[in-house]
Amino acid sequence: MQGFGVDIGGSGIKGCLVDLEKGELVGERLRIETPQPALPDPVYGVVGRIVESFGWTGRIGVTFPGVMKQGVAHTAANVDRSWIGTDVDAGLGAHVPGTVETLNDADAAGLAEMRYGAGRDRKGVVLMLTFGTGIGSALFVDGHLVPNTEFGHIQVDGEDGEKRAAASAREREDLSYPEWAGRVDRYLDVLEAGVWPDLIIVGGGVSKKAHKWVPLLSTRTPVVPAQLQNDAGIVGAALAASERPDH
Ligand code: BGC
Repeated sequence: MQGFGVDIGGSGIKGCLVDLEKGELVGERLRIETPQPALPDPVYGVVGRIVESFGWTGRIGVTFPGVMKQGVAHTAANVDRSWIGTDVDAGLGAHVPGTVETLNDADAAGLAEMRYGAGRDRKGVVLMLTFGTGIGSALFVDGHLVPNTEFGHIQVDGEDGEKRAAASAREREDLSYPEWAGRVDRYLDVLEAGVWPDLIIVGGGVSKKAHKWVPLLSTRTPVVPAQLQNDAGIVGAALAASERPDH
C-alpha cells in the first residue's frame, strides 16, 4: 500500500510517495526551498506543487514544526509566528485534491521509527528526540504516541533547552562534537529528572554522526540513533494519514 507524506521544514519542504509496508520512499523525493518569509499561503502553494507533481490525489500527511491539534497550529518556535492559530488542515485542503492530516514533525519521525526503525516492537516508554534547528520530541507508551510533547523547551540552567543543545547551536557556536555532547548531556540530565523512558532514540541530521557524540553521553537511559534519518518525517506523515480516522 502506498501513502504520501510531506515534511515542512524551515529550509526545505519535501514530499514523496511512501511504501507503507516497508516504510521507505518510493522513487525520488521532491524538495523545494521553503519560501521566505515562510508564511502559510506560500508554504501551502509549495505543498500543492509537490503533491501535484506526483499526480497523487489521495489523503496526505503533513508535518509541521510546532504543536498541532486537530489541524490547528498552536506554537511556532522556529517558523513565522503568523502560523499560530492557523487551521493548517483547511488551508492546505484548498491546495491539494485529497484530505490532509497534519501532525508535529517529531511526532511523525517518532511514528516512523517506532513502526520501521529503532523503536520497532519496543514496549514501555520510548522517547524520540530530533536534533535540528530546534529539539523535537515524541513520547510513546507501549507503542502509543502521546502527541505534542514539547521537551525541546524544558528549562535547562535558566535557558530554553533547545537554544543550547539543538544541532543548530553546535553550528552557530562552532562547537566540537565533545563540546556539544556536553550540552546534550546536561539537557538530557534535566529531562531525565522528569521522565524515565526505557529507551531514547536520537534523530535529525546529526544522528548520522551519532558515533561522534552518543558514546559521550552519561544518561541512565540507553540511547540509540534513529534508523530512518532524513526520511522519517515523510514516512511518519504518510503513515499517520493512512491510519488515523477522519476527523
Ligand atoms: C518546536 C517543536 C518541533 C521542534 C523540531 C521546536 O522548537 O517547538 O514543535 O517539533 O522544534 O522542529
